[in-house]
Amino acid sequence: MPPSGAADATDAERPPGRSVGEVLSEITAVVGDEQEAGRIVAEVLAVPLSVVVLRSGEALSPGARERAWTMAEMRAAGVPLQHVLGSWGFRSLDVLVDRRSLVPRPETEQLVELALAQLSPGESAQPDAGGRVVAVDLGTGSGVIALSLAVEGPAGLEVWATERSTDALALARANQERVGAQHREVADGVRFLEGSWFEPLPAELRRGVALIVSNPPYVSEAEWATLDPVVRDHDPTRHSWPVRSGWKPTSPSSSRHRSGWQPGALW
Ligand SMILES: C[S@@+](CC[C@H](N)C(=O)[O-])C[C@H]1O[C@@H](n2cnc3c(N)ncnc32)[C@H](O)[C@@H]1O
Repeated sequence: MPPSGAADATDAERPPGRSVGEVLSEITAVVGDEQEAGRIVAEVLAVPLSVVVLRSGEALSPGARERAWTMAEMRAAGVPLQHVLGSWGFRSLDVLVDRRSLVPRPETEQLVELALAQLSPGESAQPDAGGRVVAVDLGTGSGVIALSLAVEGPAGLEVWATERSTDALALARANQERVGAQHREVADGVRFLEGSWFEPLPAELRRGVALIVSNPPYVSEAEWATLDPVVRDHDPTRHSWPVRSGWKPTSPSSSRHRSGWQPGALW
């Protein structure tokens, strides 16, 4: 089924390309970026981007061509490529992305790198007296930090993740299922809880958390107005402080000081 939200264009207005290569060059003109057009064609062919060029002489089925055109028109209308494709790479994972949560950023992949380093032998985030290693991800959004820590962190790592948005949490759980198809026991080690920062976490964790990590909302009200429309119009407003949402500007760190959490490491 083609993704929803396509710009208005009838098939009659679309050039008649029938091969992979022809459709690729036609939609490159629509999207304005050959790499992005290639990602779209790769998606409809269900192959890696590098394979598209090797298949340029092959015929594209009418259904695949239709879907590629629909996606290209969405992209040309300003929908982020990640939303057009519906999934995106984050470190070793391929996760679902949509309007329910922020599109995972490359900087967040680095945040995971820093957090993982703290879980290495000799660093500050170490097992508790019972040998249990617990990490907490606050404001988990699509769940990418929590799931990456579980997949890439030490064996047996328990990850607890909180999120106040019901929609984002549903996306995180869908990603847990998706990651679980390849890493079942690892994904099962992640608990997603709904609520504000530390509030939904069980009290007993307070004594033995090795690591707390968070990528909290970071866009100020002043910055919001100046954002690229691709971000402003498609990422949820809750990634900024209370712009248009009416939310109170609490932060994980003010909440931690109030509730007395003392992790081994904090990122
Ligand atoms: C910048 S996004 C980061 C999402 C994800 N961790 C990532 O890095 O892609 C911030 C997240 O914090 C969540 N959030 C905002 N206030 C919160 C609160 N008080 N408690 C829990 N989550 C909150 C938002 O809903 C949003 O999903």
